[in-house]
Amino acid sequence: MDGRLARIVLCDTSEAVCDGWRRMLTSRCGDLSVSVYHGTLGALLERECGGSVAVVSPGNSFGFLGGGFDQALCQQLGGEPFETWFRAKLHERYYPVGSATAVELGGGFSCGAVRYVVHVPTMVAPCRSVYDRRRCVATGYSRVFDAMWNALVSCPADVQTLVVPGLATGYAGVPSEVACKSMVFALRVFALPAKLFSRELQNVLIMHFLGCGYGGFFGERSLRECERWGISVEALQRFDASRDSIEDILPAVELYV
Ligand code: ADP
Ligand code: NA
Ligand code: NA
Repeated sequence: MDGRLARIVLCDTSEAVCDGWRRMLTSRCGDLSVSVYHGTLGALLERECGGSVAVVSPGNSFGFLGGGFDQALCQQLGGEPFETWFRAKLHERYYPVGSATAVELGGGFSCGAVRYVVHVPTMVAPCRSVYDRRRCVATGYSRVFDAMWNALVSCPADVQTLVVPGLATGYAGVPSEVACKSMVFALRVFALPAKLFSRELQNVLIMHFLGCGYGGFFGERSLRECERWGISVEALQRFDASRDSIEDILPAVELYV
């Protein structure tokens, strides 16, 4: 495989999370192949994932790896000494929710084909759930979309397979249907083939998903593209992530690749 992200493996022990992904995924997302692995990270890493691997850590702002998926990842990579090494690599510093930092493995810590841990804090500290049902777009859909998007765009160029668990679906307390919708939307928008879809259209889709539709950022070019791909501008403009299906605003890319 050449040095390019080709494969996403969504991995979770939660059946609800895996079902949520499967319901909304298409077998191919543009140039990416996406699969769902229902099981532990440890069992997944015993298999061949394909090329060099990065694993997303849905962590906290301080890089402690004491719970949930991070703990499982930490155990795979060497336990407590790895956590100390990892936090030193992060300069033991505060990383805001919304950041993403790829840490290249070293220091004698390794596990099979894993080359990077992509640190994506989903909460400052695991003190309480971050989700508020009355503000579900801000505290759920947007938070998870941003984490997934950040993980994708921060994935180093020499990674072929990115392993991602449910983001914010554990300690952070975001319901699986909320998190899965945002993760699948981020994947499907990220993977829109650049030769067919403009960056402007990609941005327009994201802006409306996040509930921030703004006419000034919705230019002629995207309007024409919407028409070409059968995306209803009206559906985009009234889109509400908590109510509407992502199929209403996504082009059926698999028909064209
Ligand atoms: P967050 O703080 O973002 O909620 P968690 O680590 O608590 O992160 O949970 C993220 C997801 O990881 C959850 O959906 C949980 O089911 C899953 N998970 C926890 N442990 C494992 C494991 N060993 N293997 C695979 N998935 C796991
Ligand atoms: Na975590
Ligand atoms: Na977290």
